[in-house]
Amino acid sequence: MKKRIAIFASGSGSNAQKLMEHFKNNPEVEIALVLTNNPDAYVLQRADNFEIPSHIFDRHEFYQTDHIIDLLKNLDVDLIVLAGFLWLIPKNLINEYPGRIVNIHPAILPKFGGKGMYGDHVHNAVMAAKETEGGITVHYVDENYDEGEYIYQAKYRIDKDDNLEMIKFKGQQLEHLHYPRIIDGIIKKIKK
Ligand code: GAR
Repeated sequence: MKKRIAIFASGSGSNAQKLMEHFKNNPEVEIALVLTNNPDAYVLQRADNFEIPSHIFDRHEFYQTDHIIDLLKNLDVDLIVLAGFLWLIPKNLINEYPGRIVNIHPAILPKFGGKGMYGDHVHNAVMAAKETEGGITVHYVDENYDEGEYIYQAKYRIDKDDNLEMIKFKGQQLEHLHYPRIIDGIIKKIKK
């Protein structure tokens, strides 16, 4: 029986795309569902392109009901992967998937993490702090923003004249390179 991943994303979904490409035609693993809080998220188009079903939800559904959990359980999802998902994961979902929710963050945590620290906000903060290195962190998710156990970190160099686009690009390259392979390693170890 195939092991199944659900991806949560709020925006463009370039990391989600890399995961879709990585697991396409994989005999052991499939991406069963893409979920988003944002009806305009480009990740929905990407899911469509790969013929992966998607689900759009609102705050009420996510925080006040068990509907998302029921959906994930019905689809027999083994691992939840956050790929640019911006809402805090509620406790009931964490309790249902202990050690089975993974996030990627565009900085070397614990620096530049926490509420409001996502996407360009992170890169701008890194620039403002005149950091000479940027990086990424893949980590398990707990009920606080960006605080679960770290799984993997990688760094890139920031040159003096790097602008926001350059920093973003370097970070994204690292994310695209490593996230699918790390998720692959994690899901392989899950017994079904
Ligand atoms: C990624 O850089 C990811 O690390 C970041 O959002 C971006 C999503 O890009 N996540 C966070 O900031 C979480 N705090 P994508 O939609 O192109 O994959």
